[in-house]
Amino acid sequence: MHSFRYQRGKLYCEEVSIESLAEEFGTPLYIYSHHTIDHHFRTLNQALAPLDHQIFFAMKANSNLAILHDLAGMGSGFDLVSRGELLKAIAAGADPARCVFAGVGKTEAEIEEALRRGIYSFNVESEPELTRINKVAARLKKIAPVAVRVNPNIDAHTHAKITTGTYENKFGIEFEQIEGIYARASKLKNLRLRGIQMHIGSQLTEVEPFELAVKKVLPLVTRLAARHQFDFFSIGGGLGIIYNPALASGSSAWWKSKAAAGILTPAIFAAKLIPLLKPLGLKILVEPGRFIVGNAGALVTRVEYVKQTGKKNFVIVDAAMNDLIRPAFYDSFHEIVPLRQRRGKAVSSDVVGGICESGDYFCKDRLLSKVSEGDHLALLSVGAYGFAMASNYNSRPFAAEVLVSGTKAALVRERQPVDSLWALEKIPAWIK
Ligand code: LLP
Repeated sequence: MHSFRYQRGKLYCEEVSIESLAEEFGTPLYIYSHHTIDHHFRTLNQALAPLDHQIFFAMKANSNLAILHDLAGMGSGFDLVSRGELLKAIAAGADPARCVFAGVGKTEAEIEEALRRGIYSFNVESEPELTRINKVAARLKKIAPVAVRVNPNIDAHTHAKITTGTYENKFGIEFEQIEGIYARASKLKNLRLRGIQMHIGSQLTEVEPFELAVKKVLPLVTRLAARHQFDFFSIGGGLGIIYNPALASGSSAWWKSKAAAGILTPAIFAAKLIPLLKPLGLKILVEPGRFIVGNAGALVTRVEYVKQTGKKNFVIVDAAMNDLIRPAFYDSFHEIVPLRQRRGKAVSSDVVGGICESGDYFCKDRLLSKVSEGDHLALLSVGAYGFAMASNYNSRPFAAEVLVSGTKAALVRERQPVDSLWALEKIPAWIK
């Protein structure tokens, strides 16, 4: 579900008019709904209640400090992939003992920081990484908690750029190698083999790939858990969301309509996976990113120009691919709606940014209500991998971010001041 609705013809986030936020904070502007985040967190948490489980929010999806703080308050742990994410999670109030450190490229400095901070576990992606963690732990006179990421070689039926669990991908260790790796790792004195992890891909809209992967690794996990006294099995993230409104009722019947459309819901996820996982007797970790925050965000943008060519109707807006790269990068669909509901004929439109790239578009040939200069549009379901993947390309400052809860709204990230774009740069004296 999401919390962006029309009230008397104007788009609201919960009980706050988006137009008023655009007026107060300017555009492009990211707006997040606390209620949607809370709802998604609770829905998943409740679905998994029959298991001893813990949600570790994948903060790469959205790492705004206020959102991390909000999630920590709900009881979330954090899945993180860099020293920056670790320190940011701590700054937001997260307990490192509720953080797992993933990623194929952990540096010695990152491993050291995570060990000193008392991380719950490293999710290890290669044998050289195990050796490195053991070495750093020995130097610090610590025991490093680790879980090896198994690559089960299962096709997640999702976009090629977000599939991670096949042998084409750089992630994890091949299924066939895992027992040998654990046997060798058990001889490394400064490691504690705490569990095992997998993650097969992102934006999964079917339960079958999860089921196949769990079924495939289950006998392996059972053997290893007994041999090494595991605490946990992490089944990763990847739960998909609805991007296409044709499938989304937006009402309280949301989950029902989703299930009826054959789309993966926490209830379906739980119904298929709990019977497989419960007999293990291990703590089950999940690492959702998109599912928790994806539908909770909108990007508000102002129409700068409408440019009609013989072939196209270009709606040129003040947000661009530097603010939201998903359409350019994955050809992803984001619903685009006006802040003021309009009647009248829809026009086939390309909504584009002002960046000098043909890939800088938010939609192509989409039927949208007619807009003119000065109108505002909202791009929906951009709470995950939206701001998180923003850049300063074309020297465009980062957008501002606002968090809404009921009738309250707060600026949770200021718009980047333009002079900070070059604040870290220097001109060497030898350039005349
Ligand atoms: N765990 C691991 C190890 C991951 O690599 C990821 C995402 C997650 C959890 C969270 O996955 P989620 O629940 O959000 O699907 N930028 C892309 C998505 C990249 C996902 C990378 N890994 C996009 O905009 O679609």
